[in-house]
Amino acid sequence: MLDPCTFVIFGATGNLSRIKLLPALYHLEQAGKLPEQMGLVCQGRRELDDDSWRDEVRKILAPTARNGLDEEVFSHFCQRICYFRGDLEDQATYEQLRQLIDSNPAMSDNVVFYMAIPPADFGVVSDCLVAAGLHQQDRGWRRLVIEKPFGYDLESAQILEQRLHRHYQEEQLFRIDHYLGKHTVQNVLVFRFANLMMEPLWNRNFIDHVQITHAESKGIDTRAQYYEDAGALRDMLQSHLLQMLTMVAMEPPASMDAESLRDEKVKVLKSIRPIPRTAVHAHAFRAQYARGAVRGVKVPGYLEESGVAPKSVTETYAAIKLYIDNWRWRGVPFYIRTGKRLKEDTSMISIRFRHPPQQLFRKTQIEQLKPNWIVLGIQPQECIRAELQIKTAGLEMQTRSTTLDATYGGSTLQLDAYEALLLDVIEGDHSLFLRYDEVRWAWEVVDPILKVWATEREYIHTYAAGSWGPVEAERIFDRDDQEWRNALNE
Ligand code: BG6
Repeated sequence: MLDPCTFVIFGATGNLSRIKLLPALYHLEQAGKLPEQMGLVCQGRRELDDDSWRDEVRKILAPTARNGLDEEVFSHFCQRICYFRGDLEDQATYEQLRQLIDSNPAMSDNVVFYMAIPPADFGVVSDCLVAAGLHQQDRGWRRLVIEKPFGYDLESAQILEQRLHRHYQEEQLFRIDHYLGKHTVQNVLVFRFANLMMEPLWNRNFIDHVQITHAESKGIDTRAQYYEDAGALRDMLQSHLLQMLTMVAMEPPASMDAESLRDEKVKVLKSIRPIPRTAVHAHAFRAQYARGAVRGVKVPGYLEESGVAPKSVTETYAAIKLYIDNWRWRGVPFYIRTGKRLKEDTSMISIRFRHPPQQLFRKTQIEQLKPNWIVLGIQPQECIRAELQIKTAGLEMQTRSTTLDATYGGSTLQLDAYEALLLDVIEGDHSLFLRYDEVRWAWEVVDPILKVWATEREYIHTYAAGSWGPVEAERIFDRDDQEWRNALNE
């Protein structure tokens, strides 16, 4: 049985809430997973009454609800919702919020505060909650969910952490990285540690390099204000993609409990070879989308998006090369890239194996043996594939690639990442949330790159929207026979 609770979304009218939080909560309602008694307080700046906000929520959910909006579920969901107008910088907002929670019997004293707001406001909001006494757990639990990026760089992350810890207990803090809620990301661990045949191969003796790709065809939509400050490196790479890297690279944990897993992840991040400022250009590449066409539809360039500064050099594409200096991975490059307005929507981890040591087929028609790959499709296609070479039928000695495919059935019972994580917050389960040292070491990795890019304000490479990104990004590869893998099947 779940505790009754009050779920407060700061920034409920914003992008994150519309795209992820409200749909996730609605789907949890539909699945009957929300606590019977759960009020949903939606904070925004605009003057709106409850009914107009509920109409807006309907418009938000109509296109996103799985199998269409279910009127019965929606009407139950609406009974939970109230709109709360308030400015985040104004202390009076929090006093009113306290009164709302204290005086309304429908509002439980167990409260989740979800910060779906610009990262620059995290500190202010958490302080104002403290000033209003809303963080105190004397009558019920109080939990704070902090979105990424946690801080703007290493230094600001440290300051934010200290600021939070002055008044909040660690058990109250939920640093979210929604990629940890994706079951395909969790499946990387199952694939590695539940299959005896994989582990002996999973190291520098057999693996040539690893690629982690997150490609999106969409642009920045209405998020210019956030994205201009963040850029691709902070928005995706420092958080989601480095988390994926830790899953691929970590040692088997002592057990599957949250602390053991986090200990191993931190060890990976700490072992990443620091990039000296002088080597940033050899290890990292950034670019920005220019006008182009995505699936035949013309789209504007980044500089033409509303809210973007005319000479902005914010990157919408970032690619980096990392080395993990430990016994397992020494010398194996990890190539990681992300971009907006790319040709397709795909997230995948591709692992290329070395060539066999003996050139046994040199004197046959086989010109060049293709290396083996293991490809883990994270989204939209969820799969695990191993590519092997086999002989083609016939008299000649020729080969072709074939795949062993462990594609999942796509069970309808799977919860989406945000659904799973919001439920974890309500249940108080920290397993899939970040410990501060993970965040800190991830900043250590990208900080030198951010520092150098911050000084280069004059120029940024571009790529046509709808392409696979700038070809120049290939310069981070160690060898000519390494190249980006764009598709699960090649
Ligand atoms: C968010 C980023 O954290 O992740 C977005 O801020 C990005 O820019 C999104 O689009 C990608 O998440 P998903 O789950 O759609 O792959």
